[in-house]
Amino acid sequence: MSNGAGVISIDFEEQVVIVAEDGDRRVIPLASPEAFAAASRAWLRCGWDVKHAYTFSWLGRPIIQLPEDMVRAQEAIFAVKPDLIIETGIAHGGSLIFYASLCKAMGRGRVIGVDIEIRPHNRTAIEAHELFDYITLYEGNSTDPQIVSKVSADAEGAETVMVFLDSNHTKAHVLAELAAYAPLVSVGSYVVAADGIMEQLVGAPRSSPDWGTDNPRQAAIEYTAANPNYVISQPDLTFNEGNVSTPVTYWPDGWIKRVD
Ligand SMILES: C[S@@+](CC[C@H](N)C(=O)[O-])C[C@H]1O[C@@H](n2cnc3c(N)ncnc32)[C@H](O)[C@@H]1O
Repeated sequence: MSNGAGVISIDFEEQVVIVAEDGDRRVIPLASPEAFAAASRAWLRCGWDVKHAYTFSWLGRPIIQLPEDMVRAQEAIFAVKPDLIIETGIAHGGSLIFYASLCKAMGRGRVIGVDIEIRPHNRTAIEAHELFDYITLYEGNSTDPQIVSKVSADAEGAETVMVFLDSNHTKAHVLAELAAYAPLVSVGSYVVAADGIMEQLVGAPRSSPDWGTDNPRQAAIEYTAANPNYVISQPDLTFNEGNVSTPVTYWPDGWIKRVD
């Protein structure tokens, strides 16, 4: 069901989830990790169709993320306590403000944002924000050598660096971003290739037929295969008294850890 094909039904009377795909039909107890995964797949797809991720803001700025991805990012940031968080893809700036608010709360770290086009109203609002002291903005293509060298120079004094890649989500662009920014990540920290969910959205509104192969998840897989000091590794849950440990995410296989 990687491209969203198949049927998922929920029978609340019987308390089961029914998954039918490739001629196979499974009836799964609702109270099971497998049912949660199937229902989450349906929720993620439906949420994409209705633009659920476009309904949130953080401290006044729109943020285009799933709340669970934000909470998981917060868990990783609190564990790693980066001196520097770099994000490609600013949009309205909500994610930069989110990271900046964590830096302020932790008493550590600052944030660099790169976007090919920082629209004037977004720049004005980000620069007027009370957390702007934590933020540096660069306008340009994230893979432009001049931008990369500015960000690399800023990263020189930082001991721990984390990177979020959330700009152009083609495989080629994410691979180029990984080549440029993954070396800045400190050992034990992460570079995140966001939005690998595209692979599961072929046929959905605002999708493209080539998303099945042309997506950030494939870039993460190819990059880690060629660079053994980076591995795809979802950060451990820092709290789990539940029965599931797989995140409901737009970033499947997106967390790339530098191990050496
Ligand atoms: C998905 S939005 C970013 C959302 C933002 N991180 C958030 O959480 O709210 C993608 C952004 O990437 C920018 N972008 C697209 N291609 C880019 C490139 N080649 N270099 C830098 N930014 C790019 C777009 O202008 C857009 O603002």
